[in-house]
Amino acid sequence: MSALFQPFQLKDVTLRNRIAVPPMCQYVAEDGVINDWHKVHLAGIARGGAGLVIAEATAVSPEGRITPGCAGLWNDRQAEALAPAVDAIKAAGAVPGIQIGHAGRKASANRPWEGDDHIAEGDPRGWQTIAPSAIAYGAGLPKVPRAMTLDDIARVRADFVAAAERARNLGFEWLELHFAHGYLAQSFFSPHSNRRDDAYGGSAENRGRFLVETLAAVRKVWPERLPLTARFGMIEYDGRDEETLSDAIALTQRFKQEGLDMLSVSVGFSTPEANIPWGPAFLAPVAERVGRETGLPVASAWGIDTPQLAERVVAQRQLDLVMVGRAHLADPHWPYHAAKALGVERAAWTLPAPYAHWLERYKVA
Ligand SMILES: Cc1cc2nc3c(=O)[nH]c(=O)nc-3n(C[C@H](O)[C@H](O)[C@H](O)COP(=O)(O)O)c2cc1C
Repeated sequence: MSALFQPFQLKDVTLRNRIAVPPMCQYVAEDGVINDWHKVHLAGIARGGAGLVIAEATAVSPEGRITPGCAGLWNDRQAEALAPAVDAIKAAGAVPGIQIGHAGRKASANRPWEGDDHIAEGDPRGWQTIAPSAIAYGAGLPKVPRAMTLDDIARVRADFVAAAERARNLGFEWLELHFAHGYLAQSFFSPHSNRRDDAYGGSAENRGRFLVETLAAVRKVWPERLPLTARFGMIEYDGRDEETLSDAIALTQRFKQEGLDMLSVSVGFSTPEANIPWGPAFLAPVAERVGRETGLPVASAWGIDTPQLAERVVAQRQLDLVMVGRAHLADPHWPYHAAKALGVERAAWTLPAPYAHWLERYKVA
């Protein structure tokens, strides 16, 4: 019996299997408003059989977008545009999730296919970035951010809460806080980007304060019966990994006390100097340790793109959920094909009935 195709329950939400689609920015929104492409993308992937589909990093404020094409959830027009996508994901049998975040010093960038670097100074499409300290990321992201004041910190925390309320009102059933990938929350945690000398900098506890406070504030408005998760870069591959990981695990224990239900373990991406050991499921052992030491269910992405590998990391209890990203772009029916490859009985029923019946009856590949 396949472990990957066992249902997964968290709070009052049950996923039909252990396959999740991680958030993947599409970079084609306007003023943070998503369009028909996003609906096609989300509904198409949900149709393919995954248990959970998490909509892309959605900015909590205009300056929190990575690029001018990123989605947002700071006004009602953006919420209205998202509503049909939520319904479509549900109609396809998946649970609709959303990731909310703020890009911090990595904001104000060109779309990946237009350079993936900071928009040039003086270009009216760009904007002033903010971060814990006035330190640039470097490489293609050389813009020096403005160091946040305590008022800025309070305002961004309130923006997270407002976006979470909108997500709740839209009917999303899974909320992921973007605490990863060198964006604002991660940059508070990382000594590469945080040199503050107030309560938000210095010790690991202080560097985690913005994350803990934001999580606690969001938990107050996000329904207790629905999963609240975070994607957190717990390792940088910058030569001080044991220290980062044990600090990150301690912080995750604080998240748990504040009501976090699950963790998506990822990479920090706080410095261009990192030496990341890319390879199949390279983060799974890290996630396994985090799960063991925190007692939280864990998910992870990065290079888990074959059915056999996905099955193995779940069967060996390294991960509770497998995030399959790019492989879903290539094959939105990835879960169906995985079910077939793993010999799951009645594999076609990974898909909704109007497809499943015909595929099974006529043995369509
Ligand atoms: C097009 C694209 C957009 C992405 N956007 C996001 C995002 O919005 N939020 C996020 O946390 N990760 C984002 N990522 C990272 C993915 O969620 C995932 O971690 C990554 O693709 C590795 O998983 P994979 O090997 O299964 O593709 C993005 C990746 C891709 C390819």
